[in-house]
Amino acid sequence: MSNIKNIAVFTSGGDAPGMNAAIRAVVRTGLYYNLNVFGIGRGYDGMVHDDIFAMDAKSVANIIQRGGTILKTARSEEFRTVEGRRRAFENLQKKGIDGLVAIGGDGTFTGASKFIEEYNIPIIGLPGTIDNDLAGTDFTIGYDTAINTVIEAVDKIRDTAESHDRVFVVEVMGRDSGLIALRSGISVGAECVLIPEIKVDYEAMMDRLDRTRKNKASRVIIVAEGDDAGAFAVAERIKERFPHYDLRVSILGHIQRGGSPSCMDRVLASRLGVAAVEALMEGRRGEMAGLIHSKVEFTPFEKAIKHIGAVNDNLLRMVDILSS
Ligand code: F6P
Repeated sequence: MSNIKNIAVFTSGGDAPGMNAAIRAVVRTGLYYNLNVFGIGRGYDGMVHDDIFAMDAKSVANIIQRGGTILKTARSEEFRTVEGRRRAFENLQKKGIDGLVAIGGDGTFTGASKFIEEYNIPIIGLPGTIDNDLAGTDFTIGYDTAINTVIEAVDKIRDTAESHDRVFVVEVMGRDSGLIALRSGISVGAECVLIPEIKVDYEAMMDRLDRTRKNKASRVIIVAEGDDAGAFAVAERIKERFPHYDLRVSILGHIQRGGSPSCMDRVLASRLGVAAVEALMEGRRGEMAGLIHSKVEFTPFEKAIKHIGAVNDNLLRMVDILSS
């Protein structure tokens, strides 16, 4: 028999497609188990400022297909302070909230760990970020939709690049992670993919551009935003070496964060949302629910946020083989 009676769900950090599907799953699962379910607006900021409200089955109707987050999100400065966290805890206490589901990325889980350390409140995390930069899950909620958005955009860029015999340097998001760049790069048949995890060999890149020119009218280089150089600097280098190239830069930006979630993100969010509530009821805390080889697994927050060196360089090797 679970001691948990009142749970609250919130989204924090950058939004990601599928967050709404996750909120819906948490709310409906809580209600299924006869818990009272609350939503918190604007992440930790709403906790500090008492933006906490009851949710019912209707409040999550017709949202599974919507991008963004109906709860809104923020990166809260106040919650980083001892006083901010104290106010947040008092606001939760006022409503009798005894369990939290935090949907977000590494910043969200760092905050959650601190909160548990100070107030021992049960929190389960769901990986909600387009960056796919968390350990303990094969994919984060939002990543699949984001890479599909990149593919759609770069396919369009390829049409115009091909018509003009142009070289395009396209910058994609991912913060310090190259995983958006790598997977989307393979999918669009990019000639080069530059990611922060692996030092760029500019000589090899120039050789490849020169070599592939014989077979191809257009060339597309995908650059992860976390890469040291950035798209404009990469374009500069190419221009220096090949001044005759007709070169353009395109920064895809925040379109990568929006849009209706893919089937994969909706199912992932739904599965993990159910798992999070059941985990709270089983007495778990301080862990992120993720999917590893199609199975729900729990990873402590401290481990989940240390996603280091997770790049499969075989995939980068594939870009070399397939773009020649
Ligand atoms: O973490 C998600 C993300 O979209 C990153 O890929 C990107 O670096 C960052 O957020 C952008 O943040 P903001 O929306 O605050 O500019």
